[in-house]
Amino acid sequence: MAPLAFEIARAEGANLYDVAGKEYIDLIGGISVANVGHRHPKVIDAIQRQLEAYLHVMVYGEFVESPQVQFAKLLADNLPGSLNSVYFTNSGAEAVDGAMKLAKRVTGRTGIIAFQNSYHGSTQGALSVMGSEYWRNAFRPLLPGISHHEYGSFEALKEITEQTACVIAETVQAEAGIIVPSKEWIQALRQKCNETGTLLVLDEIQAGFGRTGTLWGFEHFEIVPDILLLGKALGGGMPLGAFIADKKLMDAFSDSPVLGHITTFGGHPVCCAAGMAAMKVMLEEKIIDTVREKEQLFKSLLVHQKIRAVRSFGLWIAVEFETFEINKKVIDTCIENGVMTDWFLFSSNCLRISPPLTISASQILKASSRILQAIS
Ligand SMILES: Cc1ncc(COP(=O)(O)O)c(C=O)c1O
Repeated sequence: MAPLAFEIARAEGANLYDVAGKEYIDLIGGISVANVGHRHPKVIDAIQRQLEAYLHVMVYGEFVESPQVQFAKLLADNLPGSLNSVYFTNSGAEAVDGAMKLAKRVTGRTGIIAFQNSYHGSTQGALSVMGSEYWRNAFRPLLPGISHHEYGSFEALKEITEQTACVIAETVQAEAGIIVPSKEWIQALRQKCNETGTLLVLDEIQAGFGRTGTLWGFEHFEIVPDILLLGKALGGGMPLGAFIADKKLMDAFSDSPVLGHITTFGGHPVCCAAGMAAMKVMLEEKIIDTVREKEQLFKSLLVHQKIRAVRSFGLWIAVEFETFEINKKVIDTCIENGVMTDWFLFSSNCLRISPPLTISASQILKASSRILQAIS
């Protein structure tokens, strides 16, 4: 697998421009980062205003930095009541690590259950729960006490016991190629966690922030996790992650030891200002309301005998071909023809469509017709 090595000059809305000035419709969206479009003017404005005030001034929590506080409040106001305490990190993987530490500290247990074909990040902790031996093996020893099971399997739920600190799952598996679990399974998972006193950690680092047609992915399944993981689109294009839980749980980090989790830059004021502006844009411009319609438009257009399946959940689509080789040829031709796309980490025969949610109908028409041309 070779890197794209695409030299970017500028990005605006759902468009990318290379150094030669060529325009591309962006179907990657920074891998579910640019949900409100690249360089939304309100996000740029918020960043500029924060630049004028202060950058990093002191370690998280010691000083009150209003962008952190206000963004945490905006998030909590738009989440179920039990998700009321936000710990900002620099990245998704750090949010995963923080959540696993919190689960161990709260429950006094060490076992962690994760799922095959899950992607949670690349730090030692996040890699330990990644659901692929190929990616993990070279970095052993990793964290102990972790077992991986089949995602969506009711049988796997039997492995959750009174020794399990937490179960970590993607609400919808992203890099596996958009694998949507059944509502019954997620609800049974929630139930089993309740019965065993195990914390349910849902990774919405890709699924969150409107991607699935609701603000949060878990809303579709009518359950609430104990810890929610966010990242990617959370920072409006700036680096930001978060793990979010009930304050009663989060308080476990405040004694024995004190400062149970520390970060210098996590919740950087510029990133929080950008993320908060992006979230306001998402809510005020009712972007989420357009997601399902745009998903259906893509699906109605992407019909071809060489396409084996189109799996989707919101503006998050995996177009499946028979082999990686076919997919790669389609991707290369798409890029040549001004449509930026790639494949999924654990599903290399699937073409990724996770554009800015602000992509227009005419851009969808153009991109789909170029994908079909590339296939032909
Ligand atoms: C579902 C999921 N979880 C966690 C991560 C890790 O986030 P980061 O790359 O910011 O560490 C990613 C990144 O791709 C992801 O897709």
